[in-house]
Formats: sequence, structure tokens, C-alpha cells
Amino acid sequence: MLWTTFFALPAAVSALAMPHWMKRQGSLTMLRFGCAQVVIDRLDPLVNPGSIPSPHVHQIVGGNAFNASMTQGDVSAGASCTTCAFSDDFSNYWTANLYFKARNGSYKRVKQLGAARQFNDDFSTKIGGGVLVYYVSAQPGKITAFKPGFRMLVGDPTRRTPDPAMKRQNCYRCYTGPNFGGDTAAPCADSKIDTQGLPKEPCKGGIRSNIHFPTCWDGKNLDSPDHKSHVAYPTSGPANFLSLGGNCPSTHPVRIPQLMYEVVWDTTEFNNKADWPTDGSQPFYFSYGDNTGYGQHADYVFGWKGNALQVGMDATGCMGAKCKDMKTQSIDAAKRCSVKTRVNEDHDGWLDKLPGMEM
Ligand SMILES: *[C@@H]1O[C@H](CO)[C@@H](O)[C@H](O)[C@H]1NC(C)=O
Ligand SMILES: *[C@@H]1O[C@H](CO)[C@@H](O)[C@H](O)[C@H]1NC(C)=O
Repeated sequence: MLWTTFFALPAAVSALAMPHWMKRQGSLTMLRFGCAQVVIDRLDPLVNPGSIPSPHVHQIVGGNAFNASMTQGDVSAGASCTTCAFSDDFSNYWTANLYFKARNGSYKRVKQLGAARQFNDDFSTKIGGGVLVYYVSAQPGKITAFKPGFRMLVGDPTRRTPDPAMKRQNCYRCYTGPNFGGDTAAPCADSKIDTQGLPKEPCKGGIRSNIHFPTCWDGKNLDSPDHKSHVAYPTSGPANFLSLGGNCPSTHPVRIPQLMYEVVWDTTEFNNKADWPTDGSQPFYFSYGDNTGYGQHADYVFGWKGNALQVGMDATGCMGAKCKDMKTQSIDAAKRCSVKTRVNEDHDGWLDKLPGMEM
């Protein structure tokens, strides 16, 4: 997302855009950094540990300890490289892939774009098939970084209808032109341009997905059977950082960083309406067989080394992909890190069905 609308200078938060409590506190840190693709595979160590293959394909970024199951407590100990700009971040981040469905029923994977250039950060513009990751410490009070072994899931791949309470958890923006055209508000902040489902019309600059994770933790469990109930949204519900500040419920009193993923798909080569279904529906499907977009979900396995993330969350005024003593690497080094594909199937040709999906 383009933050020039909100930030006059990289390190200076626009006073106008700041909620009152944030002006008082004056301590926003927003790590915004790219992670290039580490592998595309049909694995899900969080929801389907040990399944080779898992039910649907994912695009995975982060450390090279990613595997069909990840039972180790400290993920960073099992990784030797990462595709993320912060070189101490061996976490894994993954989401579903997006496909275009042609009139003849064949599917083609939609390529992803790098992020808009912000905060003099070149790395994230070159992530190609990667994910832009945010960790924001915008809540009042102490932010406690995740602990080794922590993991969580947001969203529900079986959902096909909007959940009004989750309007700000998961949204899409239809870019109105090249170069992230129409990027004029924080993610999921503008109900006129952000939709809960996939955009219904062709998007001239591609489609962006933003997913906000819960910001409150029970303080005890690193995971839970549904991978969700150990975390919670503030009592006021999901929000982006411009309107954060709600109280954590008493069951989940520990404030954790606001984690957000941003993925941009270059749908422009599929924008000819003559290729779209004759019934007027939109032709983009997630790898789990959803063309509504309401089932969008994202997975997180924490893997920062030592207290590297806590250092970032305790810093004040860090914006973008640089922060005080946090170590970074070049995009070339990041792209040398990869994980070998376990499930051998075609990801880029025309496919007669979505891998794993009987349709
Ligand atoms: C993944 O797990 C398998 C089986 O436990 C192991 O042999 C392999 O080395 C692991 N791969 C990575 C990249 O850790
Ligand atoms: C289906 O349509 C696409 C797009 O027109 C084309 O590239 C592909 O070869 C077709 N596949 C089959 C099996 O006919």
C-alpha cells in the first residue's frame, strides 16, 4: 500500500492521520517488508501437518525450515536462510494461490506483483511472487512479540458469504490503473473501494488482498486446536492500524503485534470480458475452489531469531524495512533461499482442474 497519503516523511507520521492516543504516545512502529517466494507447494504444516499433499496449493514465503510438518519449537533453529528482508526472520507466511478460469474450464495461475516502492525500500518492489508483511505496534501499551513455537490461522476456506463483523479482517482492493492506481486509503479502511469479496469487474491494475491477524493473545498457548482460539480481536473487532486502540478481551489480555499480509495479483492479462463467464460472474478462483473471495485465509508460523522481533516492536518510529539494529539482507541473497518442492505437480501451465480439487 502507498503510505505517502499518510506519511509526509518516512519517519514522520502525519499528525492528521494519527488517532488521538497515538499522538499522545508518539511511538508508532510499522515494519513493512517484503518476503520473496520460498516455494509453491501443496503443503500446510499448520492445518494438515504431515499431509503430502494437503488439500490445496499455497504460496509460501520466509525461512527454509518450511516443511509438511513443523513440530519444532524454535523454527529459526532449523532454518539456514530466509526470503525476507529482515534476515533474522525465519517465520513462514502462506496464503492460497489465485487462478484464472477460462471459458473452456481450464485454470491458469495468476502471477503476483511486487509491492509499491515506499520508505526507500527497493527490496519489496522486487519480491515478485512474494508477500508484503507488516508488523505494527500501534496499540497503546506494551506489545509482546510472539514466542518460539507460536502459530495462528486467520480466515476460513469454507466460507462463501460475507461475515459483516470481519469487514476489516479481510478485504480486496481493485487497482484502477497501473502502478497501484487508486491506492488512497489504508487497507480495508474505505468501504467504497475495499470489498469483502473478490472484485466483480476487471481491475485495470490488478487485485490486492489484505489480511489482518488478531492482535490479542491469551498469553499461554502457542497454538490451539482450531489454530485461532488462542488469539482474539480487540472487543471493538478487527481494525487497521489507523483505528486501532480497542481493548483486548479479558480472556486474551496480551497485546501482540498487528500482523498483516498484502498480496497483489497481476490479473491484467485476463481482463478481456469476452473471456469471462457468460453469466457475468468473475473468473478468478482461489486454489481452494472459491471465486467469492470470502474464504480467503492466511497462515503464520513465528520464526524470528532470539528477541529480534521484540527489538523491532520496542523501537519507536521505525517505518518500512529498516529499523535500528535489525539486520537486513539484499533481495539477491533472499532469492537464493528456497525450499525443494515436495508434491510434484504443474503450477504454471493450463490445468484442467485446481490441484486437489475435484470440480
Ligand atoms: C522435512 O522433513 C523431512 C521428514 O521429516 C526431512 O527429511 C527433511 O529434511 C525436512 N526438510 C527440511 C527442508 O527441513
Ligand atoms: C482453454 O483456454 C485457454 C485460453 O483461451 C487456452 O490457452 C487453453 O489452451 C485452452 N485449454 C484447452 C484444454 O483447450
